[in-house]
Amino acid sequence: MQVVDSVIGLRTRVKTWRSQNQIIAFVPTMGNLHQGHLSLVQKARELADKVVVSIFVNPLQFNDKSDLTNYPRTLQEDIHLLTELDCDLVFTPDDTVMYPQGMSLQTSVHVPGMDDKLCGLGRPGHFDGVATVVTKLFNMVQPDIAVFGEKDYQQLLLIRQLVHDLNIPVDIVGAPTHRESSGLAMSSRNNRLSDEERTQAALLHQQLQAIKAALENGETDLDALLNSAQTQLQENGFEPEYLELRKAQDLMLYQAGEKTAVRILIAARLGSVRLIDNILCDLA
Ligand code: PAF
Repeated sequence: MQVVDSVIGLRTRVKTWRSQNQIIAFVPTMGNLHQGHLSLVQKARELADKVVVSIFVNPLQFNDKSDLTNYPRTLQEDIHLLTELDCDLVFTPDDTVMYPQGMSLQTSVHVPGMDDKLCGLGRPGHFDGVATVVTKLFNMVQPDIAVFGEKDYQQLLLIRQLVHDLNIPVDIVGAPTHRESSGLAMSSRNNRLSDEERTQAALLHQQLQAIKAALENGETDLDALLNSAQTQLQENGFEPEYLELRKAQDLMLYQAGEKTAVRILIAARLGSVRLIDNILCDLA
């Protein structure tokens, strides 16, 4: 496995693979890899001849400075894990490689229809930062396929829209959320939970499952359903940011009785840690 930190080093390697007609799959990450990321790399491995993983903590997508400062950086451990997974290349640019003119002079990519809902509301500028860095990474790596986790469901739809609107020739593959045995969705942020909080955090997924079961049983009072789940969460120390039912295809609000696939999406704080999760409830 090669580790490169420059665009030229990356391109040289990728160019050789392209000349050999190898299919290249790409997994962009911000490092601090856990089993969830590794399952994305495994998926990439199944789909392609060569696998590229990037590790870059992208300052442009952090609206909260302390979140950026506290984001765990574990490059050597990450590289070790990727070696064991038979990854072919790890791209580890720093801020000067990604934003040579500085972030304020960087051309920005904006995907419409994302800032006014879900994580877009609570994290102003976040999705422009994601769209910009992913566009740059796609242009640097030039993969055939890119794999993203369904845990960040809004991000996954944003990337699908981005490649469609900008005619970027990359197939976007969504991979299922990896969970701890308690049901808690795996996230680099879980490491910042105390032992007690980590146990409590399982309630997030339990509430999503309870909402799903109620919908499947024909519940139509959606406000009551969501309010009751929010109350349970508040009583157990969470500060919910949103808990919503949206159509899986386009994230438009779901209305009771519609026969469609629904995503139940949540963001909530537990102590100082912001957690997100979502599950599918197919009512089609
Ligand atoms: O999901 C993430 O880890 C990041 O948002 C991504 C896609 C690597 C862009 O920085």
